[in-house]
Amino acid sequence: MAAVFHCIIQIFITFPNAKETALCTVIPVRFCKPNPYGNMSTKEILDKFEARQDNLLMILHALQDNHPQNYLTEEALSDAAKYLKLTKSSVYGVAKYYSMFSLKPRGKYIIRVCVSPVCELMKGKEVLAQLEETLGIIAGETTPCGRFSLEIAECLGQCQEAPSMMINDKVFNHLDSKKVNEVISKYRHK
Ligand code: FES
Repeated sequence: MAAVFHCIIQIFITFPNAKETALCTVIPVRFCKPNPYGNMSTKEILDKFEARQDNLLMILHALQDNHPQNYLTEEALSDAAKYLKLTKSSVYGVAKYYSMFSLKPRGKYIIRVCVSPVCELMKGKEVLAQLEETLGIIAGETTPCGRFSLEIAECLGQCQEAPSMMINDKVFNHLDSKKVNEVISKYRHK
Protein backbone atom coordinates (compact mmCIF):
# COMPACT_ATOMS: atom_id res chain seq x y z
CA MET A 1 0.00 0.00 0.00
CA ALA A 2 2.84 2.39 0.88
CA ALA A 3 4.43 1.66 -2.50
CA VAL A 4 1.20 2.51 -4.33
CA PHE A 5 0.81 5.75 -2.35
CA HIS A 6 4.43 6.64 -3.12
CA CYS A 7 3.81 5.95 -6.81
CA ILE A 8 0.73 8.27 -6.86
CA ILE A 9 2.66 11.06 -5.15
CA GLN A 10 5.45 10.60 -7.69
CA ILE A 11 2.94 10.95 -10.54
CA PHE A 12 1.66 14.25 -9.12
CA ILE A 13 5.21 15.51 -8.57
CA THR A 14 6.34 14.48 -12.05
CA PHE A 15 3.14 15.69 -13.76
CA PRO A 16 1.93 18.83 -11.94
CA ASN A 17 -1.36 18.96 -13.91
CA ALA A 18 -2.17 15.33 -13.22
CA LYS A 19 -4.75 16.06 -10.50
CA GLU A 20 -6.73 18.32 -12.79
CA THR A 21 -6.56 15.89 -15.67
CA ALA A 22 -7.42 13.03 -13.33
CA LEU A 23 -10.69 14.77 -12.49
CA CYS A 24 -11.50 14.85 -16.19
CA THR A 25 -10.79 11.14 -16.15
CA VAL A 26 -13.20 10.45 -13.29
CA ILE A 27 -15.89 12.70 -14.77
CA PRO A 28 -15.22 11.90 -18.40
CA VAL A 29 -15.87 15.24 -20.07
CA ARG A 30 -13.88 14.03 -23.04
CA PHE A 31 -16.62 11.48 -23.70
CA CYS A 32 -18.86 14.38 -24.72
CA LYS A 33 -16.66 15.01 -27.75
CA PRO A 34 -16.20 12.81 -30.81
CA ASN A 35 -12.77 11.18 -31.17
CA PRO A 36 -10.69 13.56 -33.31
CA TYR A 37 -7.82 11.11 -33.75
CA GLY A 38 -9.37 8.36 -35.86
CA ASN A 39 -7.03 6.77 -38.44
CA MET A 40 -3.97 8.87 -37.59
CA SER A 41 -0.48 7.41 -37.19
CA THR A 42 1.16 7.49 -33.76
CA LYS A 43 3.59 10.11 -35.02
CA GLU A 44 0.77 12.30 -36.32
CA ILE A 45 -0.96 12.10 -32.93
CA LEU A 46 2.21 12.87 -30.97
CA ASP A 47 2.92 15.83 -33.22
CA LYS A 48 -0.38 17.35 -32.13
CA PHE A 49 0.99 17.78 -28.59
CA GLU A 50 3.91 19.78 -27.28
CA ALA A 51 6.57 17.42 -25.95
CA ARG A 52 5.81 18.41 -22.35
CA GLN A 53 5.56 15.79 -19.64
CA ASP A 54 2.31 17.25 -18.30
CA ASN A 55 0.71 16.32 -21.63
CA LEU A 56 1.20 12.64 -20.90
CA LEU A 57 -2.40 11.86 -19.91
CA MET A 58 -3.83 13.66 -22.93
CA ILE A 59 -1.40 11.81 -25.20
CA LEU A 60 -2.33 8.44 -23.71
CA HIS A 61 -6.03 9.21 -24.17
CA ALA A 62 -5.41 10.15 -27.80
CA LEU A 63 -3.34 7.04 -28.52
CA GLN A 64 -5.93 4.79 -26.89
CA ASP A 65 -8.85 6.43 -28.72
CA ASN A 66 -7.02 5.94 -32.00
CA HIS A 67 -6.63 2.18 -31.58
CA PRO A 68 -9.51 0.15 -33.08
CA GLN A 69 -9.47 -2.09 -30.01
CA ASN A 70 -9.50 0.81 -27.55
CA TYR A 71 -6.27 0.07 -25.73
CA LEU A 72 -2.66 1.17 -25.29
CA THR A 73 -0.17 -1.10 -27.01
CA GLU A 74 3.42 -1.66 -25.80
CA GLU A 75 4.55 0.23 -28.87
CA ALA A 76 2.30 3.21 -28.12
CA LEU A 77 3.65 3.38 -24.55
CA SER A 78 7.24 3.25 -25.83
CA ASP A 79 6.59 5.95 -28.43
CA ALA A 80 4.96 8.22 -25.84
CA ALA A 81 7.86 7.68 -23.42
CA LYS A 82 10.42 8.45 -26.12
CA TYR A 83 8.54 11.55 -27.24
CA LEU A 84 8.32 12.97 -23.70
CA LYS A 85 11.78 11.77 -22.67
CA LEU A 86 10.35 9.64 -19.86
CA THR A 87 11.19 6.08 -18.92
CA LYS A 88 8.88 3.46 -20.31
CA SER A 89 8.23 2.14 -16.79
CA SER A 90 6.94 5.54 -15.58
CA VAL A 91 4.59 5.81 -18.58
CA TYR A 92 3.46 2.23 -18.01
CA GLY A 93 2.85 3.06 -14.32
CA VAL A 94 0.59 5.99 -15.24
CA ALA A 95 -1.34 3.92 -17.81
CA LYS A 96 -1.85 1.18 -15.24
CA TYR A 97 -2.91 3.58 -12.48
CA TYR A 98 -5.85 5.22 -14.28
CA SER A 99 -8.86 2.99 -14.84
CA MET A 100 -9.74 4.82 -18.06
CA PHE A 101 -6.72 3.26 -19.73
CA SER A 102 -6.53 -0.34 -20.82
CA LEU A 103 -3.41 -2.35 -21.53
CA LYS A 104 -5.32 -5.15 -23.19
CA PRO A 105 -7.61 -5.17 -26.26
CA ARG A 106 -11.22 -4.19 -25.63
CA GLY A 107 -14.47 -4.40 -27.56
CA LYS A 108 -15.96 -1.99 -30.06
CA TYR A 109 -18.38 -0.81 -27.37
CA ILE A 110 -17.11 -0.18 -23.86
CA ILE A 111 -19.87 -0.31 -21.27
CA ARG A 112 -18.95 1.46 -18.05
CA VAL A 113 -21.38 0.85 -15.20
CA CYS A 114 -21.30 3.20 -12.22
CA VAL A 115 -20.99 1.43 -8.87
CA SER A 116 -20.40 4.53 -6.75
CA PRO A 117 -22.62 5.04 -3.65
CA VAL A 118 -25.60 6.87 -5.21
CA CYS A 119 -25.93 4.40 -8.07
CA GLU A 120 -25.40 1.53 -5.70
CA LEU A 121 -28.24 2.85 -3.53
CA MET A 122 -30.44 3.01 -6.64
CA LYS A 123 -29.80 -0.66 -7.49
CA GLY A 124 -26.74 -0.10 -9.67
CA LYS A 125 -25.49 -3.56 -8.70
CA GLU A 126 -28.63 -5.06 -10.21
CA VAL A 127 -27.89 -3.19 -13.42
CA LEU A 128 -24.40 -4.68 -13.46
CA ALA A 129 -25.76 -8.16 -12.77
CA GLN A 130 -28.27 -7.79 -15.60
CA LEU A 131 -25.53 -6.71 -18.01
CA GLU A 132 -23.38 -9.66 -16.99
CA GLU A 133 -26.26 -12.04 -17.58
CA THR A 134 -27.29 -10.49 -20.91
CA LEU A 135 -23.74 -10.33 -22.29
CA GLY A 136 -22.56 -13.64 -20.78
CA ILE A 137 -19.41 -12.05 -19.35
CA ILE A 138 -18.38 -10.53 -16.03
CA ALA A 139 -16.99 -7.05 -15.39
CA GLY A 140 -13.49 -6.75 -16.83
CA GLU A 141 -14.18 -9.09 -19.74
CA THR A 142 -14.90 -8.70 -23.46
CA THR A 143 -17.45 -10.77 -25.34
CA PRO A 144 -15.84 -13.44 -27.58
CA CYS A 145 -17.16 -11.63 -30.69
CA GLY A 146 -15.22 -8.51 -29.62
CA ARG A 147 -18.34 -6.35 -29.63
CA PHE A 148 -18.72 -5.42 -25.95
CA SER A 149 -16.37 -4.85 -23.02
CA LEU A 150 -17.93 -4.50 -19.58
CA GLU A 151 -16.24 -2.34 -16.95
CA ILE A 152 -17.17 -0.89 -13.60
CA ALA A 153 -16.71 2.84 -13.12
CA GLU A 154 -16.67 5.44 -10.41
CA CYS A 155 -19.24 8.28 -10.41
CA LEU A 156 -20.13 9.36 -13.95
CA GLY A 157 -21.49 12.71 -12.77
CA GLN A 158 -25.09 11.59 -13.31
CA CYS A 159 -26.06 10.98 -9.67
CA GLN A 160 -29.39 12.80 -9.89
CA GLU A 161 -30.44 10.36 -12.62
CA ALA A 162 -28.96 7.18 -11.17
CA PRO A 163 -28.38 4.37 -11.82
CA SER A 164 -26.22 5.16 -14.83
CA MET A 165 -23.86 3.68 -17.37
CA MET A 166 -22.01 4.82 -20.46
CA ILE A 167 -21.49 3.05 -23.75
CA ASN A 168 -18.49 4.75 -25.37
CA ASP A 169 -19.55 8.40 -25.49
CA LYS A 170 -23.23 7.98 -24.66
CA VAL A 171 -24.79 8.14 -21.20
CA PHE A 172 -27.81 6.06 -20.12
CA ASN A 173 -29.70 6.94 -16.95
CA HIS A 174 -32.63 5.66 -14.85
CA LEU A 175 -31.63 2.11 -15.71
CA ASP A 176 -33.49 -1.04 -14.84
CA SER A 177 -33.33 -4.56 -16.25
CA LYS A 178 -35.79 -3.83 -19.04
CA LYS A 179 -33.99 -0.69 -20.19
CA VAL A 180 -30.60 -2.43 -20.05
CA ASN A 181 -31.82 -5.18 -22.35
CA GLU A 182 -33.38 -2.70 -24.77
CA VAL A 183 -30.15 -0.70 -25.00
CA ILE A 184 -27.94 -3.78 -25.48
CA SER A 185 -30.27 -5.15 -28.12
CA LYS A 186 -29.88 -1.91 -30.13
CA TYR A 187 -26.08 -2.04 -29.85
CA ARG A 188 -26.00 -5.68 -30.97
CA HIS A 189 -27.24 -4.51 -34.36
CA LYS A 190 -25.25 -1.28 -34.70
S1 FES B 1 -22.85 7.75 -8.21
FE1 FES B 1 -23.34 6.93 -10.15
S2 FES B 1 -23.35 8.65 -11.44
FE2 FES B 1 -22.75 9.45 -9.51
